[in-house]
Amino acid sequence: MIVIGSDHGGLSLKTALKSYLTRRNIVVSDAGTETDASVDYPDFGLKVAEQVAAGSFDLGILICGTGIGMSITANKVPGIRAALVTDVFMARMAREHNNANVLVLGGRVLDEQKACDLVGAWLDATFEGGRHQGRLDKITDIEKKYN
Ligand code: RB5
Repeated sequence: MIVIGSDHGGLSLKTALKSYLTRRNIVVSDAGTETDASVDYPDFGLKVAEQVAAGSFDLGILICGTGIGMSITANKVPGIRAALVTDVFMARMAREHNNANVLVLGGRVLDEQKACDLVGAWLDATFEGGRHQGRLDKITDIEKKYN
């Protein structure tokens, strides 16, 4: 199960990705926003990140205009590894090396097909563990240092 959220800058891409995920038989929960009225991306970034961090969903997807604001927001939540990606290699690496549990996309950066390709590459990849787990453990140590 995946939770997906956006601001107004990512709404249209969110709608397209929900259809893509449904076609892949993946259950999607939409955390908003629901209209193109201007909203603040941290509200939706926090909502999705907290639901993933709490274990309510395995994975999350966030979309704002560039993806930058959503990635900054989501990465403030302990346990979240949010990756802003713009090509298929980055999307695959985000899973294989970083075990990213939130994928972040820019609704004003990507067309729908590209965005579906990125989500597909991320979902189809597998975390490699090994030396990469040690690096993630170091990130967890940083979180502990400041919490
Ligand atoms: C909203 O205009 C825009 O700032 C937002 O969608 C995002 O791009 C922020 O990083």
